[in-house]
Amino acid sequence: MQLLTEYREDVERVERFNFVSRLTHWGHTVTFLLCLLTGLILFLDGVDWLAAIFGGYNSAGLIHRISAVFMTLFIIIFIIFDFKGIKAWIKDILSFGKNDIIFILKFPLEFLGFEVKMPPQTRFNGGEKGNSILTPTCVILLVLSGYIMWFPAAFPPGLVRVAYPVHDIAMILSTFMVCMHGYLGSFHPGSGESFWGMWKGTVRADWAKHHHPIWYEETYGEKKAE
Ligand code: HEM
Repeated sequence: MQLLTEYREDVERVERFNFVSRLTHWGHTVTFLLCLLTGLILFLDGVDWLAAIFGGYNSAGLIHRISAVFMTLFIIIFIIFDFKGIKAWIKDILSFGKNDIIFILKFPLEFLGFEVKMPPQTRFNGGEKGNSILTPTCVILLVLSGYIMWFPAAFPPGLVRVAYPVHDIAMILSTFMVCMHGYLGSFHPGSGESFWGMWKGTVRADWAKHHHPIWYEETYGEKKAE
């Protein structure tokens, strides 16, 4: 069984994600997973076996903090080196409209394997726009509440108390989002090509035309802005 779609070089390909986007995306994936696993050791009781993998409770706590610092660095790298990309991303999210709502309503049927005709999508489809709002919001809340808990003496006691439930709720919500997102961005039939966009930077032109026709036309088609 083939899990990912085949990466084809013998067909026309177009750029989907630049180097900085890919570096920060995968940097976040690694640091997120490390924070999640080591965080679960601090959050749950009876996971000695998981703690043992990370060298015990103390070193799990240390790996958690080091990963959090790298996660923060990736956010800073993204802001400094791809500010234009972030602006374009936010502009696309703010274009959320009727077509995105229809996409989200029809998506469960497509997910279950039914043949569904989707309305034309921009660079990110309705579900990806939702993910683009929810996941980064959770990550920012995780980072901010994390530093507040790490350095409690530097913040008002009320804020430190609030940071604990905020960190836990953002962790649960983002874990749920990342599980769904990880599957949809890799093994889900039909969306496997998007994995190559995030891994190698390009996707098949015919895939882009089919899944994101508005973005394709504006970026590579006749309507391309000069
Ligand atoms: C678990 C493994 C992961 C896989 C396989 C994966 C895969 C992907 C792919 C293929 C895309 C591009 C989709 C497109 O072409 O439009 C993407 C975008 C994105 N990823 Fe991931 N990702 C993973 C983990 C993460 C994590 C941990 C985060 C955040 C902490 C994250 C946040 C995002 C965001 C915000 C986008 C843009 C919106 C979207 O396309 O949904 N991803 N990811």
